[in-house]
Amino acid sequence: MNRIAVYPGAFDPATKGHEDIINRSLHFVDRLIVAVAENTTKTSLFSLQERIELLNEIVGDDDRVEIRPFHGLLADFAHEMGAAIVVRGLRAVSDFEYEFQMALMNRKLRDDLETVFLVPARHLTFLSSSIVREVASLGGDVADLVHPTVLRALEGKFG
Ligand code: COA
Repeated sequence: MNRIAVYPGAFDPATKGHEDIINRSLHFVDRLIVAVAENTTKTSLFSLQERIELLNEIVGDDDRVEIRPFHGLLADFAHEMGAAIVVRGLRAVSDFEYEFQMALMNRKLRDDLETVFLVPARHLTFLSSSIVREVASLGGDVADLVHPTVLRALEGKFG
């Protein structure tokens, strides 16, 4: 069986929380496509190209994982990729309502698409990209929350 999953997000930038979900997904999928959203409603710090490059550095040469940009509907992108699974991390109860809504909408759009929720490592449940961006922009230490490549990129942005 060739289980293909899509893990979507803005990844602005990817954090150790995202890395954790990628690694956990690889326990049950054969191929993981990390889908980097081209257009989100948020203003991004890193360009699409930068976000993709950072994820490529994080993933290294693991050929089970592929980083790809996407725009438009996630359900359509997953279908194009031949993926039957969408992976999402569920960090706290507050994530639930939005995630539930998204999973049901994606299923409405593509009935054969299943969403799988993964629970991140406990020490990473409080993380988000914006909190990392904010702390880094104010000179705080985020070294244990992001990959060294992302840390360098943040230093490049904020000095
Ligand atoms: N560890 C750390 N942080 C995490 C995390 C984890 N495991 N999982 C999520 N986060 C963070 C993200 O970094 C993001 O942080 P930020 O808001 O501070 O930047 C926040 O939690 C929200 O993440 P997420 O819900 O994944 O939002 P997103 O903006 O990264 O991605 C899309 C949302 C792109 C997946 C979604 O909007 C989408 O699918 N868009 C395509 C259009 C579409 O199909 N729309 C209909 C969907 S039903």
